[in-house]
Amino acid sequence: MWSIIGLGIVTLFIIFITHCFYKWNNPKCNGVLPPGSMGFPLIGETLQLIIPSRSIDLHPFIKTRIQRYGRLFRTSLVGWPVVVSADPDFNSFVLQQEGNSVELWYLGTFSNVFGMDGESRMSAVGSVHNYIRSKLLSKFGGESLKEVKELVPQLEQMVHKTLRIWSTQESIEVKHATATMVFNFTAKQMFGFDYEKSSEQISDTFTNFLQSLMSFPLNIPGTRFHKCMKDKEKMLNMIKNILKEKLASPETCQGDFLDEAIKDLRSEKFLTEDFIVMLSFGALFASFEAISAALTLGLKLLSENPSVVEELRAEHETILRNRGSSDSALTWDEYKSMTFTPQVINEILRMANVAPGILRKTLKDIQVNGYTIPAGWIIMIVTLALQLDPNAFKDPLVFNPWRWKDLDPIVISKNYMPFGGGMRQCPGGQYSKLFMATFLHVLVTKYRWTKIKGGDIVRAPILGFGDGIHMKFSEKA
Ligand code: HEM
Repeated sequence: MWSIIGLGIVTLFIIFITHCFYKWNNPKCNGVLPPGSMGFPLIGETLQLIIPSRSIDLHPFIKTRIQRYGRLFRTSLVGWPVVVSADPDFNSFVLQQEGNSVELWYLGTFSNVFGMDGESRMSAVGSVHNYIRSKLLSKFGGESLKEVKELVPQLEQMVHKTLRIWSTQESIEVKHATATMVFNFTAKQMFGFDYEKSSEQISDTFTNFLQSLMSFPLNIPGTRFHKCMKDKEKMLNMIKNILKEKLASPETCQGDFLDEAIKDLRSEKFLTEDFIVMLSFGALFASFEAISAALTLGLKLLSENPSVVEELRAEHETILRNRGSSDSALTWDEYKSMTFTPQVINEILRMANVAPGILRKTLKDIQVNGYTIPAGWIIMIVTLALQLDPNAFKDPLVFNPWRWKDLDPIVISKNYMPFGGGMRQCPGGQYSKLFMATFLHVLVTKYRWTKIKGGDIVRAPILGFGDGIHMKFSEKA
């Protein structure tokens, strides 16, 4: 009798589990879903995506699935149904659909930290989003960088100082050192942060914060996520204090990003002090990690490719030779005269890609190539898949800046999107390129560098550098 009841319970349990698996793997859809697998209930295929891959190549999770299913496939990550796209036409379509059939999305911890609907408005739409973009572009866009004549010389001077300090040390860990450099300069543009007078290494708090971002969002003391939220609070408080000081003594304002936003507090109804603080925090966060990762990868690739350094050095020494005075600083026109340097920067950005993809959430069903992506799903645009596609870039894993001389502009526009596209295209793209070019200018004309140890590339799936890249810098004789 009991054995029959027991058998019945086990049978029901197996039917229930099979039913759950079936439902999970066959989500509701008013059409045909792209091919793929949804993995296990709840965790989906998250674990496969976060397994570290020690290669500059596309993460195996993406690469093997593109080979198996094609350029569009479905999966499930951190509890969300996801369609991954490496299809250039569909990518462009999605990026143009912002606010129409898709909206911005962050996965997992990112959404908790940046608050998709709280005080953070990095996810803002409509006029608020337009305001944020125009403010950032008026500080970091190409026109403003050109107009503010002292910016390039200030940047050059800061790089000089930084490299001089690096050259006095036996070895430096490049990712940490470049992150500090980018943070200090960008935070000065953002809110007048004076790193030379600051007692605290606030850039370290930012770096720690970033490392905790990929943690499980469990906010109780002792967890990495809790530490991440504490770090966020500390950084917001620092910016809040600067804001208060500026409001209390407006005569100290120097025209940084925060000063400009303060001016709008009365005229723009949606603006609050908390909003401005969060905005400065979000933009600073968006900037320093991406530039420092690109610079770190660049230094690694350059140290492995002496012929690239040789041509870079020739270009920058010509700039120095053509100057009237040996004391004069780098100018905007000299920056614009560079030809090989932009190719090197393009090539670094082609291979870098810090984030695994650009994320959007569908607001309605989307039809693509005979498939339907249901409303409420996440689309992950993997731009790196196109930037490492051998059909677009021959021998994609080879660092070859010269390839940019002959590349077809149509191939570039379809396959190269380091700064995204559409309405949310990165407003810091021009600033990042100027930063990298100025760094390279000082580096190749005044310094030599050699790798001491480390330098492993890890995609997990965010780009990282294992135990770091340690290098020795020395002034050229
Ligand atoms: C190498 C450096 C950089 C890379 C590779 C990069 C990449 C990107 C990408 C791919 C996006 C699009 C994200 C999306 O569509 O969801 C983006 C957006 C953004 N980036 Fe950057 N970025 C860099 C530097 C910067 C800098 C220096 C700043 C600030 C000055 C910045 C601020 C932003 C902001 C605020 C957005 C959101 C724009 C919006 O929603 O309209 N980024 N970035």
